[in-house]
Amino acid sequence: MSTTKPLIEAFFDEPTNTVSYLVADPQSRKALVIDPVLDYDHKSGQVDTTSVEKILAEATRRGLTIEWALETHAHADHLSGAPFIKGRTGARIGIGEHIKEVQAIFRPVFNATDLKTDGSDFDHLFADRERFAVGGLEVEVLFTPGHTPADVSYRIGDAVFVGDTLFMPDYGTARADFPGGDAHRLFRSIQRLLALPPETRLFMCHDYKAPGRDAYAWETTVREERDANVHVGKGVGEEQFVAMRSARDATLAAPVLLLPSIQVNIRAGRFPPAEANGVHYLMVPVKPRRPGVGLPA
Ligand SMILES: [Fe+2]
Repeated sequence: MSTTKPLIEAFFDEPTNTVSYLVADPQSRKALVIDPVLDYDHKSGQVDTTSVEKILAEATRRGLTIEWALETHAHADHLSGAPFIKGRTGARIGIGEHIKEVQAIFRPVFNATDLKTDGSDFDHLFADRERFAVGGLEVEVLFTPGHTPADVSYRIGDAVFVGDTLFMPDYGTARADFPGGDAHRLFRSIQRLLALPPETRLFMCHDYKAPGRDAYAWETTVREERDANVHVGKGVGEEQFVAMRSARDATLAAPVLLLPSIQVNIRAGRFPPAEANGVHYLMVPVKPRRPGVGLPA
């Protein structure tokens, strides 16, 4: 494993509570971006690139060359800004190889006939333990499913970008009730991360300010998560975790941007193809809330 300490810059997007990261090798100035956000207003359908442009401007200011736009998973709460970064820099878009399962789950939901479920919308699909270099940095991919069937974490030097596999110690963990999600698998993935050296720095993909905390936070350590995570800290067992997670998930509403996010993110950030009038539309599959309630013909 590389001993180079990466330069890490975090970008917090308050509308979606998402943290994107610019990570660079300070010597070679080669860089990667993790989980970039495309600004999207669901009420108006308007898309903007202000958030991704901030990351690109910072990269330019520091003289960095962005080689990768990496996703930890197909997000359900924001649209990916990866294609914009690719368009500007030529960066490759990478995600875990199990994204194919997520594509297969959602292709019929959105009748996404343009979408192949072989992951080919992405430039690269990472296998568990795959390693690659970004300048002098070595990146190791850790398969950490559970929140979705395809999550990966990226280990770079003494830092791990955990996606939604963990939240800050005082907030706990992410839901595991999306299609293909599994609280048992999430627990085991978390244990894999907690088995890393205690001083390993962990960087979250989201923060929601836990009760009693008035500032957003996204960096912690394996030691702090082991000692104090309110859902998995201090040796909580798998069955206890799954019971808690399942009960909690049953109370959670769908994220505001669930439907737009999924149909864009399974296409690696592409919008569905334009209709005959040249306009791109996002789809809302309409269904009865209760059995026996029909839709008007
Ligand atoms: Fe997520």
